[in-house]
Amino acid sequence: MNLFEVYKLWDIEPVRGLDTTLWDKDGEVYTDLYGGHAVISVGHSHPHYVKMLSEQLGKLGFYSNAVQNSLQRDLAARLGRISGYDDYSLFLCNSGAEANENALKVASFHTGKAKVLAFRKAFHGRTSGAVAATDNPKIQAPFNSTQNIVFAPLNDLEAVDAELSHGGFAAVIVEGIQGVAGIYEPTSEFMHGLRALCDKHGCVLILDEIQSGYGRTGLFFAHQHHDVRADIITTAKGMGNGFPIGGVLISPSIKAAYGMLGTTFGGNHLACTAAIAVLDIIENEHLIENAARMGEYFRKALGNDKAVKEYRGKGLMIGMELNDGYVGLRDRLLFEKHFFTGAAGARVIRLLPSLTVSKETAENFVNAWRELTL
Ligand SMILES: Cc1ncc(COP(=O)(O)O)c(C=O)c1O
Repeated sequence: MNLFEVYKLWDIEPVRGLDTTLWDKDGEVYTDLYGGHAVISVGHSHPHYVKMLSEQLGKLGFYSNAVQNSLQRDLAARLGRISGYDDYSLFLCNSGAEANENALKVASFHTGKAKVLAFRKAFHGRTSGAVAATDNPKIQAPFNSTQNIVFAPLNDLEAVDAELSHGGFAAVIVEGIQGVAGIYEPTSEFMHGLRALCDKHGCVLILDEIQSGYGRTGLFFAHQHHDVRADIITTAKGMGNGFPIGGVLISPSIKAAYGMLGTTFGGNHLACTAAIAVLDIIENEHLIENAARMGEYFRKALGNDKAVKEYRGKGLMIGMELNDGYVGLRDRLLFEKHFFTGAAGARVIRLLPSLTVSKETAENFVNAWRELTL
């Protein structure tokens, strides 16, 4: 059997990783400032993570959600504390799309309404509801098309108010910082206005923090830079440092009912252990502070670089829109200098490294960048 070829692949096969270093099958060494698409939060194969997962696997890898699992409760308590959402409840699933799918469902159950307002250029995943709320018709099959989703421009409160005034909205869903779009931030004024409009129109405010969360921007969630609170927050990516896990944090004003949501694999023993190990490392190594510090370093070093038309983002969620003449830099960074980075289209280089990234690694990257853009 062949693979169903939906990915455009580089001809590189990493077989080993340690922190921000990767080795390919031929022994070539690479530096990872992409984190496998914002997934690697505490570095590849961190010894504490490896130890905890190995020990758990030796005890019990999986049992179903029909029995007690204290690892889930430990994770919920830890996540509530570190995120400042102690009074919320946690539903565990396996990916970002699934987290958003469940968030949209919860909002719809709670309000009894069906419509959702999402934003232009948004990306929320590829399952049915999540992809319908994603502003990219190319990845929506006819099966996904629904009249229930309306898109408004980001940072346009008047447009949001006008749409919500039509009634029937269960939720507004917004990314903490738009990632796949190329790193676009909502303003503080917009986030406060959005909170007020959701209250005014009786709909649930869902913050998709799947890419922007887990400390990446220098606070646990990106929306916390604006000092607003969401009704539902979705997480995945950095949550398990590569072990598939997603979470939905749900306000105490929204009540659970048995059977309302469910999953076979979500919250299994290995996934919870991975997520607890990640939180241990984030706290013990002060990685949120490191993300803020290293974010400042990158901004100072590359914010006014001649190759960069616009530097966007916060902390270690960085988008650099390139000036004419520098398109192709991402491939050169990879093939000539062995740095993995992310992209959004041909003109935006995204840096989404592990929150452990060191000053030395960042300096090496900046030097490589300068050599290529002389
Ligand atoms: C903001 C956001 N939401 C949702 C998703 C979907 O996550 P997953 O690929 O784990 O389903 C992504 C993935 O890139 C994302 O960036």
